[in-house]
Amino acid sequence: MNPLKHVAIIMDGNGRWGLKKKKNRNLGHKEGLKTVEKIIQESVKNKIKFLTLYAFSTENWKRPKNEINYLFNLLETFLENKINQLNKQNIKFKVIGIKNFSKKLNKLLIQSEKKTYKNTSLQINLALNYGSKIEILNAFKKLKKKNELINEKNLTNYLYTKNIPDPDILIRTGNTKRLSNFLLWQLAYSEIFFEKKLWPEFNENDFKKIIFKFKKIKRNYGSI
Ligand code: FPP
Repeated sequence: MNPLKHVAIIMDGNGRWGLKKKKNRNLGHKEGLKTVEKIIQESVKNKIKFLTLYAFSTENWKRPKNEINYLFNLLETFLENKINQLNKQNIKFKVIGIKNFSKKLNKLLIQSEKKTYKNTSLQINLALNYGSKIEILNAFKKLKKKNELINEKNLTNYLYTKNIPDPDILIRTGNTKRLSNFLLWQLAYSEIFFEKKLWPEFNENDFKKIIFKFKKIKRNYGSI
């Protein structure tokens, strides 16, 4: 049985769900947040150490302003209402990506990180304004600036995921099979599960089924 430390998720399909059910993409994001909460709790139950969620990419700024504002408001309300509960559960919250949002949201993100910094059960890495290519490029620039040797170990030290093991599993919901500039370096040997369901439809049972399948996979890492 494979040990499972880190699950990464591309939470795709909110917009389509919203249009299908309520004729409104934003309501898909609201429903998607409920799935986020379910998966956080299921991760705790399964003693998963790291859960990395792709919430907003560097490319998502191309979306209509009203959708961007809705998403960030949803995140603000979530943190304001739920960070104390996460903290009580010994959950650590970390942002991966560049924090250049409104003053209010930046402050809230930093406060949430500080409040939960020492927690040791699950670590949630929220990928926000995240792009993998820029992450890797910036890591190379830092190596060059510090005149350090270019090798895997040194490069990894300058990624947002420093000290975090690579994901064992990547899940992408929404019936689309692509990586969308997410953790391109870190996913080199991850087991990938593409799910037909849209993110708001994905539930604890779907998650448990993936964990069960993952545990039985023979992982070779290039060997036989
Ligand atoms: C992709 O679906 C989803 C996003 C860009 C946002 C993810 C946000 C949430 C799950 C809810 C908010 C979460 C937090 C933590 C506040 P899409 O809109 O690209 O779906 P589509 O492919 O159907 O258009």
